[in-house]
Amino acid sequence: MEWLTEMRENGLALIAEIDSIDSLEQVRVELLGRKGKLTTQLRGLKDLPDDERPKAGAALNKLRQEYEVLIEERKTSFAAQKEATLADGCDLTLPSVAPVTPGNRHPLTSVINEICDIFYGMGFSREDGPDVELDYYNFTALNFPDDHPARDIQDTFYINDKVLLRTQTSPAQVRIMEQQTPPLAVIVPGRVYRNEALDASHVAEFFQIEGLYVGKDVSLADLKTTVLQFVTQFYGDDVITRFRPHFFPFTEPSVEVDMQCMACHGDGCNVCGKTGWLEIMGAGMVHPNVFKAAGYDSDKYTGFAFGLGIDRIAMLKHAIKDIRYLYENDLRFLSQFRSVR
Ligand code: PHE
Repeated sequence: MEWLTEMRENGLALIAEIDSIDSLEQVRVELLGRKGKLTTQLRGLKDLPDDERPKAGAALNKLRQEYEVLIEERKTSFAAQKEATLADGCDLTLPSVAPVTPGNRHPLTSVINEICDIFYGMGFSREDGPDVELDYYNFTALNFPDDHPARDIQDTFYINDKVLLRTQTSPAQVRIMEQQTPPLAVIVPGRVYRNEALDASHVAEFFQIEGLYVGKDVSLADLKTTVLQFVTQFYGDDVITRFRPHFFPFTEPSVEVDMQCMACHGDGCNVCGKTGWLEIMGAGMVHPNVFKAAGYDSDKYTGFAFGLGIDRIAMLKHAIKDIRYLYENDLRFLSQFRSVR
């Protein structure tokens, strides 16, 4: 009788611990199931001496009934609870739906928006040009000679003799000048294409922003002021820049603008290829031949143009080590820019 008392107490403790339909079923199997202690004891009754058997049998059966009643009670209370939470056809015990994750802008889009905002502040407006472009606008009208190496099929994706994927946003200059009369101040962000071997810093399609400003008496000083305005607004007041002579067929004079490397402050490091400088754009005064192609009188008007690569800016800004991340659309990468404008 002593072990029976102990068994009863253990059983009651188990029942008291039931906290869900699942644990109720577990406890029921443990106490009343075919392999449960009580069942084993009942089966063993036949081995008891005749005079003990009735008493033990009665006690075990009584305990069995007690368990059954208690477990049934718990079951009814769970069912009632469930019914209460099912009010209005809604089961409040179910887990809530997965959190809704809002989309976010691609880091390239954010950088484009940020740059455009700065130029809007200086009176520029935004225009578009086609990705699939005529050879005429991409090269000829921009004063590229017929045998210029950039026209080579190795650098340019040709669709046919006359049609190609633009290798730069500059063809938009001529298209816009054909449509508008000076003075004009426009920026044209867009995708450009070049037949590059792919690696951590080269992809075959990337982004540029073109700028064009045309009016009367526009000078290299205006170009410089505009560029410096942009650079200080985008990178900060203390940034150091230099204008380096360069060549582009469609501008004369031409420059490349370098910014002192922000990673090493000019000492030379891996970010700047040990030079201490980062090239940030190509620019120059619009070549008279380009004005001529667009139907502008180059005796009357002057202007400047610039082109900057967006990918490098985004990579520097977010410390992205491989340009290909920007084009793989991997959500593990993209979702890191959730807080970016
Ligand atoms: N289109 C030139 C490039 O892709 C950049 C540029 C634009 C240079 C406008 C001068 C003026 O490298």
